[in-house]
Amino acid sequence: MDNRPIGVFDSGLGGLTVVKELAAALPNESIVYFGDTARVPYGTRSRETIIKYALQDARFLISQNIKAIVVACGTVSSIALFPLQNAYKIPIIGVVDATATAAAAVTVNKKVGILGTTGTIKSGSFEKMLYRIDNKIKAVPKACPMFVPLVENGFAQSDAAHFIANEYLADLKQEGVDTIILGCTHYPLLKGLISDIMGEGVRLVDSAEPTAKYIAELLAERDILSNQGAKYSYYVSDAAGDFAKFARLFLGVKIPVDNVSEIDIEMY
Ligand code: DGL
Repeated sequence: MDNRPIGVFDSGLGGLTVVKELAAALPNESIVYFGDTARVPYGTRSRETIIKYALQDARFLISQNIKAIVVACGTVSSIALFPLQNAYKIPIIGVVDATATAAAAVTVNKKVGILGTTGTIKSGSFEKMLYRIDNKIKAVPKACPMFVPLVENGFAQSDAAHFIANEYLADLKQEGVDTIILGCTHYPLLKGLISDIMGEGVRLVDSAEPTAKYIAELLAERDILSNQGAKYSYYVSDAAGDFAKFARLFLGVKIPVDNVSEIDIEMY
């Protein structure tokens, strides 16, 4: 038993999609969330910058006396997971392994589309993991840099989003994928749109649920589950008010602005 919280971080708000599933899978676990709202987006940045930011984000969470870290961000999980695991002793998990495993388990025709930020797709992270699980799987990766700004600006259901998604999904359609990995925190909010374009038969696998299941298993295995009621604390590096205002979009429930604190991430 270990009643310390789980730390979760992301480049901004998007990681709240993972918090939502963590809360469902692990109702007794407290969570300290950090969203790096001063430096978002990560998806278009260099590898060196992403690693530097990720190490600072984790250092801040560790200062909050957490027992494990969930890297909710697809980009950080793809690029900086090993540097993080090398730097810190506590268990640190990303979203790639659990999500790729879930996708490999449901594909029937072994053609799996992968959607992510430019950084995630460039890293080949999901592709490599799928290949490791089953080398007969053909991965069809596609970077979708416009998806994050569309979601963040409330255009997820718009004609503009439909037009752009049609472009991004054309190759996946052409290849006949039967499963798509939504390899970015924001893409669960585009599920309806992606399903409309790809058709109901194509399975969409997002990172949140498989990752929550994976950390639940890991905590149980190591005997470090909590037996106390859950408490949630939110920290950001800028604009706490905006974070509280838009959190509902990703989390499904409101976060009172008093529960969100601003920190200077450059101090870590
Ligand atoms: N959180 C990022 C991810 O899941 C998306 C937003 C960003 O580019 O920072 O890859």
